[in-house]
Amino acid sequence: MKNKSIRLCVAGATGAVGKALLSILYSKGFPVENIYALASSRSAGQKIPYGKNKIEVLNIANFDFSQAKIGLFSAGGSVSAEYAPKAARAGCIVVDNTSHFRMHPDVPLIVPEVNKKNIVDYQKTGIIANPNCSTIQMVVALKPIYDAVGIERVNVATYQAVSGSGKKAIDELDQQVHQITQSQPLSKPQVYAKQIAFNCLPHIDVFLENGFTKEEMKMVNETKKIFSDDSIQVNPTTVRVPVVYGHSEALHIQTKEPISASQAKQLISQAEGVILMDDPSTNTYPTVLDAAHEDQVFVGRIRQGLSHPNELNMWVVADNIRKGAATNAIQIAEELISNYL
Ligand code: A2P
Repeated sequence: MKNKSIRLCVAGATGAVGKALLSILYSKGFPVENIYALASSRSAGQKIPYGKNKIEVLNIANFDFSQAKIGLFSAGGSVSAEYAPKAARAGCIVVDNTSHFRMHPDVPLIVPEVNKKNIVDYQKTGIIANPNCSTIQMVVALKPIYDAVGIERVNVATYQAVSGSGKKAIDELDQQVHQITQSQPLSKPQVYAKQIAFNCLPHIDVFLENGFTKEEMKMVNETKKIFSDDSIQVNPTTVRVPVVYGHSEALHIQTKEPISASQAKQLISQAEGVILMDDPSTNTYPTVLDAAHEDQVFVGRIRQGLSHPNELNMWVVADNIRKGAATNAIQIAEELISNYL
C-alpha cells in the first residue's frame, strides 16, 4: 500500500464486527489520519479502545461524512440503507458489510482473492459491498479449483457461529449455557427461534417461499456475482451451531474437468489467503479454534467424492468476524487506497 494517510469512519463501532475492525486496523498499522467511531445515540459519548488509545463514539445521525474518505459500515441493513448513500454523496467511499446493497447491479461485491479487479465499479455509486461471511470463506477456497478445472456445482452445509448474529446472540448462548449448567429455568430465546445452547438450528435468517432461508440464497446469488458466472450452481443448507467464533463448511464440489485430491491439495496449498491443514495420519484438519483470530481461510479433509467422477469434498473453516467480515472489508479498503485514491 502506498504511504497515504486516510480519514476513516467505522459505523457500528461498538458491535462485534466494529470492534474487530478497530482492533485489526490498529494492529496492522493501517495508515489512519483520523478515525471516527460511529454508532447509535445509545452509545454516543462512550469511549472504546483503539489499540492503546480510547476514542469517543459519535452518533451516526450527526456525523458529517465529508470528514472521512472511507467508511467501513457494520451497523445493520437499515443503517446502511439510510447512511451509506449519504456518506457516498459526501465523498466517503463506503465498504458495506450488510446485505443491503450486495445484489445491486451497480455495487461491486468483492472478495479480493477472487475479484479485486471489480473494485473499480465503486465509482458508479461510491459503495462497495462485503459479501456474506459464509460466502466469503467458500469462494476463497473454491477460487483455485475454479481457475484450474471449472466448477459445475457445489453442495454445501454450514456450521455457523452465533457471533454472526451479533453481540446479543453471543450473550444469549452464554446465558443459556449458564442457566442449563446451573439447573436454572431457561429464559425465552430472543435472538433465535429455539434454544441454541447444546443444539443446532437449520435456520439462519428468514425462510423464503422456495423453502430455503435468506442466508442460503445469499450463498447462491453472491457466489454467482463474485465469480461473474451465473452457471455455478450452489445448493446450501445453513446451520447455526453453539460455537462463538468461526464458521465451518462441508463442501461437495462437482468440477467441470476431473481433478485428483492430491492436485487439489497442491492448488489449495499455493492459493492466496488459504492455509492447507490436511494430514489425516496426524489428525491434521482445521477447526474453528485453529481459525480464531486469523485472517486466512483454512482447508482440510480434501478427498474425492464417492457419488460422481468429478466430485471433490473439502472442509473449510474461517473466523467469521475476521475474514468473514472485518478482514475482508479492510482488504478492500487497502486495495482502494493502493490503486484508486
Ligand atoms: P449501538 O451500540 O449504539 O447499538 P452487533 O451486530 O454486534 O449487534 O452490533 C451492531 C452495531 O450497530 C452496534 O455498534 C450498534 O450500535 C450499531 N447500530 C445499531 N443500530 C444502529 C442505529 N440505528 N444507528 C447507528 N448504529 C446502530
